[in-house]
Amino acid sequence: MAQRETGLFRLLGASKVYQAFQDVLGAEPFRRRLAGWIDVAPGQRVLDIGCGPAAILGHLPAGVDYHGFDDSADYIASARARWGERGHFWQARVEEATLAELGAFDRVIAIGVLHHLDDDAARSLVALAAQALAPGGMLVTYDPCWAADQGLVARALVARDRGQNVRDAHGYARLARAGFAEVEPEIVRGHLRVPYTACLLRCRGGSPRPRGKAPRQVS
Ligand SMILES: C[S@@+](CC[C@H](N)C(=O)[O-])C[C@H]1O[C@@H](n2cnc3c(N)ncnc32)[C@H](O)[C@@H]1O
Repeated sequence: MAQRETGLFRLLGASKVYQAFQDVLGAEPFRRRLAGWIDVAPGQRVLDIGCGPAAILGHLPAGVDYHGFDDSADYIASARARWGERGHFWQARVEEATLAELGAFDRVIAIGVLHHLDDDAARSLVALAAQALAPGGMLVTYDPCWAADQGLVARALVARDRGQNVRDAHGYARLARAGFAEVEPEIVRGHLRVPYTACLLRCRGGSPRPRGKAPRQVS
């Protein structure tokens, strides 16, 4: 994963610092909007790739079968401490073998993940998401982006992101089209306390596999 790991950026790897930073930016009210785009109903299954402390879970309906994956031990410990039985939390990278055990999902989400990945890794994530989805399912991603008409402050903040692979909306959409027939990009602005530009993708029509067995429970 290509991301800055020095100085202040390293501190963001600590779950408490990361969450405090997100709160300062005003990410929590935005997550409510994000949950509207994710549009999942009770009883449906959600795979969150790179879930971090799983803050989005607080905005999804009760009764959603949520599986969050992250390779950071600290983020997953924090998600488990906060949400307990409300979700299944896996300290692991999402891989094909892992997903084979889990069955199909109605939604796959990757919030703030693609901009940390180079093109090959991002295409692999998109392919895994397409395989993990049930027919009719949707991948939703959200990442900082470049835009031609972006203000100076938004551009400066995006340029200082930990992720080293920020793209414009076209760049994110191009990656997603490698795995999905329908990709709907949307530029999001004015959603945080600071000027910021981000790209939301809603992707449908991937190559789903049939619903598999029930998820294996892992502590
Ligand atoms: C910026 S954080 C976003 C956390 C969370 N989604 C949020 O909205 O706050 C990106 C996370 O993606 C995780 N990550 C990246 N690629 C991954 C993969 N293939 N499987 C699991 N986690 C991954 C990293 O460990 C990191 O914690």
